[in-house]
Amino acid sequence: MAEIREGFQSRLGFVLAAAGAAVGLGNIWGFPTQAANHGGGAFLLVYFLVIFLLALPALYTELYLGHSAQVNPVEALKKACEERSQTMGAAAGYIGLSGAIVMLSFYSIVAGWMLAYSLEPIATLFNFTHVSEFLKADSNLRNFIFTSIMLILSASIILKGVKSGIEVWSRRLMPLLLVLLVLLIGYIATLEGASAGFNAYLKPDFSQISDPQLIIAAMGQAFFSLSLGVGCMMIYGSYLKPDANLPKLTLSVALLDTSVAFLAGLLIIPALYVAQNHGVEVFQSGKLIGEGQLIFAVLPELFSSMGHVGLYIGFIFFVLMSIASITSTISSTEIPVAFLVENKNVSRKKATWLVTLVIFLASSLIILNFDWLFGLVIQLFTQYQLPLMGLFYFITVGWLWKRGNKLLAVTRGVHYWFAQYIRYICPILMTAVFANVAFK
Ligand code: ALA
Repeated sequence: MAEIREGFQSRLGFVLAAAGAAVGLGNIWGFPTQAANHGGGAFLLVYFLVIFLLALPALYTELYLGHSAQVNPVEALKKACEERSQTMGAAAGYIGLSGAIVMLSFYSIVAGWMLAYSLEPIATLFNFTHVSEFLKADSNLRNFIFTSIMLILSASIILKGVKSGIEVWSRRLMPLLLVLLVLLIGYIATLEGASAGFNAYLKPDFSQISDPQLIIAAMGQAFFSLSLGVGCMMIYGSYLKPDANLPKLTLSVALLDTSVAFLAGLLIIPALYVAQNHGVEVFQSGKLIGEGQLIFAVLPELFSSMGHVGLYIGFIFFVLMSIASITSTISSTEIPVAFLVENKNVSRKKATWLVTLVIFLASSLIILNFDWLFGLVIQLFTQYQLPLMGLFYFITVGWLWKRGNKLLAVTRGVHYWFAQYIRYICPILMTAVFANVAFK
């Protein structure tokens, strides 16, 4: 096992890869949508609180579990639970691993839409009207083609391994993502109506702050955004060198992810108000007309109302979304691949294609039963799997794993109170969130 394991070569490589896993559609689509629907700046404040109080410790816990085990999540959790029940640990690992496949089954479809929409302005530019219509219109054929392309792109990065695949591509794609994001913010800020959007985003509507839905939405968003609860961070943590400064790296990843979400709000919310200024219907009784509408109706309408320049803006925007998707899909694909390589002695190449095939089959099931299955899978995944697994990781690190004085080793380099915080406060907070979500 030791010879086949490679890891991240540099701290920056790790931070960009882990931030790449974290930064995704959740940041650029989910976060601004939630903010627009839940009091703008009020959501922003609650989100920051949730990140600091709960998601950051959860990120640390998950990274730590992988880092100390230096092995895939199934083995890592088995090891962590060995004094209580290895079976329970392994079962949790398998649940996480299946969750990664479930997440990829819907995420790859949406990633495919992003790719199709990024090619659409090029087709329009060259007057390929039929191609442009095909790329924009929802059809099973388009969904099968573009989901497959995204899966193959992701597989081709995973095939190259952690150092030459994941790390190299994260180092290329993440800076590009940031540059595109800042360019788009700069452009949208110059348009009429944008300042009303900045106001709505940055001035909190405190009347919404006591709404329990706002806290639940912020919680779910924070966990999804940091890719917690499926083992993404555990597998990336396991590829860190044993002497890595985990608290510092955890903070860098969370800061980068939260900054991108914040920046995405600076882009999307003003863009909504610019669209409204152009006569596009955006809100109905204070809420967005529909989450899906935002990306695939409101923004494309805004881009087309801009004339020729809108084609370039649309292209840049959907390339940005495609990059954000691919850096997230590679991290989740790596979880089952690493498991097959390390536990089942399968070659990386075979494991990658096998996992890709399984995800494709799961995605196909969703594409063919889209109306009832797509939303249901996303709901079960974000509202149940993520909070429950987050809770399990806290309990594992705080209580099951080498209890008592050894817990201090878990928080080596971090203050004693942080260990106690992970042991006592985090599970209580997580239980409260889960109970709220499950029984609302
Ligand atoms: N963390 C990824 C996202 O935000 C899954 O989209």
